[in-house]
Amino acid sequence: MPYGDDHSYREQAVILTEPVSEYIDQLRSAPDRVLAAMEAQARTDRIPVVVPATGRLLQVLALARGARRALEVGTAIGVSTLYIARGLAQDGQIVSFEIDPARHAAAVDYLDRAGVSDRVSLRLQDARQGLAELEGRFDFAFLDGVKLQYGDYFDAVLPLLDSGAVLVVDNVLMDGRVAIDDAAERISVARAFNQRLLGHPELTGTLTPVGDGVLVAVKR
Ligand SMILES: C[S@@+](CC[C@H](N)C(=O)[O-])C[C@H]1O[C@@H](n2cnc3c(N)ncnc32)[C@H](O)[C@@H]1O
Repeated sequence: MPYGDDHSYREQAVILTEPVSEYIDQLRSAPDRVLAAMEAQARTDRIPVVVPATGRLLQVLALARGARRALEVGTAIGVSTLYIARGLAQDGQIVSFEIDPARHAAAVDYLDRAGVSDRVSLRLQDARQGLAELEGRFDFAFLDGVKLQYGDYFDAVLPLLDSGAVLVVDNVLMDGRVAIDDAAERISVARAFNQRLLGHPELTGTLTPVGDGVLVAVKR
């Protein structure tokens, strides 16, 4: 959905045609009570969270991987964390970083109410510091923090991933602006980041037009 640089909120961009986007949206089954409450808060407080199609993609990818140890940069109030937690293997765990105390506290509460607190470890910490302190290996990672910091997150996360791990990155199409000649720094940084990941010798990846653009890669 809207990308979260400097905590700004933007209405969701439609990268696909409007009718196709609406068609995909109306296929979604009704969210459970806790997820519906999270989405309502995100709308009211203008917190950028994944659109349902991106959330579901995260859950499907975690399930397909049989993920046991997942990482996330950018918890916000826990929407994407919940989708990933629901896709983890039974003994799975997700470690998720958030720097905003109010969002972190809301995520703790929602994920408890959703019944997944035993599988989430929420860290109120700058991910750039927290990732460097992590021990062990991970088989799933989702990057969704500040877009200009994506390169830093990636550098810290890649060495933590096992062979066969799934790496997912949100907002890689930046409202579609990566495709338009745009002099803004964050657009050129986003383009370079996409090129770097898709050409990376340790990754096999693809860029999908789900939501605001989701890059999915597997570590070789
Ligand atoms: C786009 S939102 C995350 C949305 C969430 N993944 C979801 O879809 O439900 C980005 C979040 O990253 C947080 N953030 C920004 N820089 C960060 C950093 N260096 N470390 C951890 N969190 C960060 C912001 O406070 C913001 O809540």
